[in-house]
Amino acid sequence: MDKNYKHIIRAERLCVSFGKVRALSDIDLAIGRNEIVGLIGDNGAGKSTLIKALTGVIPPTSGRLFIRDEAVDLHNYSVSRAHALRFETVYQEKSLGEKQPLWRNFFVGRQITNRFGFINVREQRRIANEILQRQLGFRGVGIDADSTVSKLSGGERQGIAIGRAMYFDADLIILDEPTTALAIKEVRKVLDFVRSIKEAGRAAIYIEHNLAHVHALADRLLVLDRGRIVADIRPADMSLQDLTTFLIEQQQSREVESVA
Ligand SMILES: Nc1ncnc2c1ncn2[C@@H]1O[C@H](COP(=O)(O)OP(=O)(O)O)[C@@H](O)[C@H]1O
Ligand SMILES: [Mg+2]
Repeated sequence: MDKNYKHIIRAERLCVSFGKVRALSDIDLAIGRNEIVGLIGDNGAGKSTLIKALTGVIPPTSGRLFIRDEAVDLHNYSVSRAHALRFETVYQEKSLGEKQPLWRNFFVGRQITNRFGFINVREQRRIANEILQRQLGFRGVGIDADSTVSKLSGGERQGIAIGRAMYFDADLIILDEPTTALAIKEVRKVLDFVRSIKEAGRAAIYIEHNLAHVHALADRLLVLDRGRIVADIRPADMSLQDLTTFLIEQQQSREVESVA
């Protein structure tokens, strides 16, 4: 796969409608190959819909999509295609089977099989242990490839989903509110994992409702409002305080609009 690209993903005038509901209107965005982009906006702004359109979950109604600078045939775009293009999504809702050992979980959708078609348990166990130790640094905390998911904390689960994305060499990792419903200690872990995505030279789209977190981590913030990108901000150029004020003012002008 071409490593000499400028943008891992780019959208032009992307629209998504659900029947009569226009969830996304004329989205233009471009994400650099080693950029962490935060998506912020109120509930219902279209954040989840946007990442679903970018990852083949929901077909766009119109517009164009480019991956590694090449136009994508939207009629043939799907989740498995996005997988093959090395995109991985870490969902907020549980994506790991509770009772399954980690060595199985790591390989959901991509089991390693031997020539008889049986799962190669030994190989999967070996790789799972390697990811746990080398990539995630889960050393001496009583977690190994045979642990079940139910033994893991929320942050560790998110970490595993991220570790899996890194292991399978994802160039774009998408996280939809990964820290929602996590304890503070856990949030720290997830934020460290997001940071490691950048250090590993990969890109991420990070949906987060906690402004302080996303402001601290992202290279760029896209603000969505009723299906449109209304601001493109570099946290380096705007303090958290100013960002907060900006968003509050925006919300107020919206309320004025809806009364008028
Ligand atoms: N599958 C769907 N069918 C119909 N409407 C949807 C569907 N998914 C999302 N929507 C609508 O699209 C808009 C954007 O939703 P969503 O992308 O989930 O927002 P966010 O993630 O920013 O909270 C909302 O008005 C929501 O009700
Ligand atoms: Mg959402």
